[in-house]
Amino acid sequence: MDIREYEELLKEMTGIIKEAVHVVDAGGRSIIYNQAMANLEETRREEVLGTLFADTFSNIPKEESTMLNALRYGEATMNKQQTYLNKYGKEITTVNSTIPVNVDGKTVAAVEIARDITDIKNMSNTILELQEESIKPKKTEHQGIKHYNFADIIGEDPEFVKLVDSAKKASQNRASVFIYGETGTGKELFAQSIHYDGSRKNKPFLAQNCAALPASLLEGILFGTAKGGFTGAVDRAGLFEQASGGTLLLDEISAMPYDLQSKLLRVLQEDYIRRLGGMKDVPVDVRIIATVNEKPEILIEKGALRKDLYYRLGIVNLDLPPLRERREDIPVLAHRLLEKQSRRFKKKISGFSENALGKLQSHDYPGNIRELENIIIAAVSMADEESLLDAEHIILPAGLYQKPGKKDMTTRDNNGIEKMKGKSLSDHLGTIEKELIREAMEKTKGNVSRAADMLGISRQLLQHKLKK
Ligand SMILES: Nc1ncnc2c1ncn2[C@@H]1O[C@H](COP(=O)(O)OP(=O)(O)OP(=O)(O)O)[C@@H](O)[C@H]1O
Ligand SMILES: [Mg+2]
Repeated sequence: MDIREYEELLKEMTGIIKEAVHVVDAGGRSIIYNQAMANLEETRREEVLGTLFADTFSNIPKEESTMLNALRYGEATMNKQQTYLNKYGKEITTVNSTIPVNVDGKTVAAVEIARDITDIKNMSNTILELQEESIKPKKTEHQGIKHYNFADIIGEDPEFVKLVDSAKKASQNRASVFIYGETGTGKELFAQSIHYDGSRKNKPFLAQNCAALPASLLEGILFGTAKGGFTGAVDRAGLFEQASGGTLLLDEISAMPYDLQSKLLRVLQEDYIRRLGGMKDVPVDVRIIATVNEKPEILIEKGALRKDLYYRLGIVNLDLPPLRERREDIPVLAHRLLEKQSRRFKKKISGFSENALGKLQSHDYPGNIRELENIIIAAVSMADEESLLDAEHIILPAGLYQKPGKKDMTTRDNNGIEKMKGKSLSDHLGTIEKELIREAMEKTKGNVSRAADMLGISRQLLQHKLKK
């Protein structure tokens, strides 16, 4: 083969492989710079080929450049992680191997092979941060560290009392618990009570919202990671190991990717986990409490929740009713929440006027008990020296939860059957929801936590909706 044929061979080879390749000659001029490298560094091949490395990559300090060190000192660097700015100032993390090419004792070229691990690095950083955050005790905004227990659960409705009783029973054993309830119905309250009033109360209670994380991270968070050659990642325990002996709350489990759901099912059946990239089976003893805020049957039908996992988790099933279905409980809830808030605001308010109670009972509470709580917080904070809260203090979020106006939204089809105009009901509801979210975000100048409070939904749920 002559030299031209070799050149062609090299060009074809480097063009086809996935690894990024950059070769400079003895004078430091780029002679091979393949498409993978151009993609990684976000430049164009033509801008680099034929130019001097030291000029084109002038933002890499000369003494730190593995390429120039290979050329000058014949130094090889293997699998080194590097973070640097590309031409446009974007941070890129790679794992590089750079070697000098020696002929007759002289360095005639330097070759650099690189793999882009920017995403992997970001991912492992996020995992670390999230894990650290998740083992910190949860703080509620005003009371410092707060753990709920059954004494915090208010409700006298007979069906509701039965629910609390089965939760109390569950707290004494290790059975998995599946909680369904709309936003603000007390899923977290029940989950914490089962833990902190139960036989596992001295062990950790950890919670993870499955919708709050990209799917690719969730697996590492749950099961941990094992030392991996290329990321330099250390061994790290996942939530299953961290919650050992205690309880792991998996919120919005239907947001967990389907294949991860089957992995979770296996873990539940076998009581062993294996860290990502690891070889060892680690025994785990964790009680799982899973929650969803849509009916499980619907989630199964939609393909969001695995039926087998649902049956495995639902050894104890708790269906928390929306507040509008236990309206008789509104007065007792309102009174207890009022007591709590009066204490907090150091006000001496003893109760509600009849009008105020009537107003509270007339509302539908799409945000359920959280919404009622927020209404009472607002009322107490506004009240002056009154001893009774009156209707004027009760501000129902009418603007936000308004029903659509009485415009005729129907039309008739060819057979004279009445149909909704153009869109389906869920389209209309979607539009209304978007409108309400926009309004809340505008009113709070983009403060997600306050907007979520205003809408009576959790911050995580709002963030999820905003992303959508
Ligand atoms: N039965 C109840 N008695 C007293 N307070 C309650 C009750 N149910 C819920 N709350 C209060 O309402 C608020 C919302 O409850 P929680 O966070 O448990 O709801 P959730 O179902 O987890 O909501 P989300 O789906 O939005 O996460 C909390 O401040 C909680 O203390
Ligand atoms: Mg919750």
